[in-house]
Amino acid sequence: MFKKIAAAFFILCTLQTVATGQRTFIDPGAVWPDSAGLHIQAHGGGIIKVGRVYYWYGEQRAQGLDTNYRYVSGYRSTDLMNWTFIGNVLQLTDPEDLGARWILERPKVFFNKKTHAYVMYFHLDDRRYQYARVGIATSPTPEGPFRYLKSFRPLGFESRDIGQFIDDDGTPYLIFESRPSKGFYIAGLSANYTEVNRQIAFIHAPLEGGAIVHYKKLYYVVGSALTGWRPNPNKYATARSLSGPWSEFKDIAPPETNTYGSQSTMLFKVAGTKTTSVLFMGDQWRPKTQWDSRYLWMPVTIGGGKLTLPPPHPFTIDVRTGKTWQVDPSTRFPQTPQN
Ligand code: GAL
Repeated sequence: MFKKIAAAFFILCTLQTVATGQRTFIDPGAVWPDSAGLHIQAHGGGIIKVGRVYYWYGEQRAQGLDTNYRYVSGYRSTDLMNWTFIGNVLQLTDPEDLGARWILERPKVFFNKKTHAYVMYFHLDDRRYQYARVGIATSPTPEGPFRYLKSFRPLGFESRDIGQFIDDDGTPYLIFESRPSKGFYIAGLSANYTEVNRQIAFIHAPLEGGAIVHYKKLYYVVGSALTGWRPNPNKYATARSLSGPWSEFKDIAPPETNTYGSQSTMLFKVAGTKTTSVLFMGDQWRPKTQWDSRYLWMPVTIGGGKLTLPPPHPFTIDVRTGKTWQVDPSTRFPQTPQN
């Protein structure tokens, strides 16, 4: 009985949000308008939760921006479906004399509870991707403006794609891909989050777009092959400890789908009162029209050492309970419980 009432209530809420113009589901691969109706610009991004608010930071690739700058955008949400643009939280001119077409990619923001600072890491590079460093910018608020601090090669290694992982105890980790060592590192941050100060693991697999989730006592790492903007079969491995040993890598989806045309940027865990869902966040890049690149977010099937990205379909998520439902976009009704 209670379940029926709860389901009816949920559907009522959904109907209400339809009436108020709120988004009631995520449609992987579709244009995703923010609250102002503009396609979200947060590519190669990442999400953090501070209190009840989710912040999504990513590459701002809108058309018509001043090409002397690189921009990191910020969005906020309380339900992961409706996002409000909070501005270009970082606006930076070439900070290290890198020359024309310098690169700022895959920004990730950590919130340091002790210092109350927001610390952004990003991939900083020249047009030939030879500088291979991380850049750091900080802000006292999630809305910015973030101020550039410095750049370095983490632990002395070349670093290109970066990923962010925050463990259940709040410990922050940076994942970074290193071409010369043909693999990627999981590394710990200093107390103030502005240094990368210890190697946790080196995973000897030529993968980038690194993402990690801790789910039921197992760590799952996902990465993509090194094919630039072209999608490829992303793979995963597991370990009981972040420091390994890590299992062999397996495909997260049928390899012929090339991860449904996407590339991993983060695995995001939503631990609710009823269940825990894990979202795969990927980018469907459109290299010639980057502003139109899409997001492929999907709840993964995970557990017992297996992780699978199902064929994309519209879904809704209830961040309170952690539940997700498959949605039929023609009726906009949450229909099939996903978990
Ligand atoms: C991808 C990488 C992107 C971007 C691109 C450039 O492999 O994940 O972030 O650097 O290459 O070709």
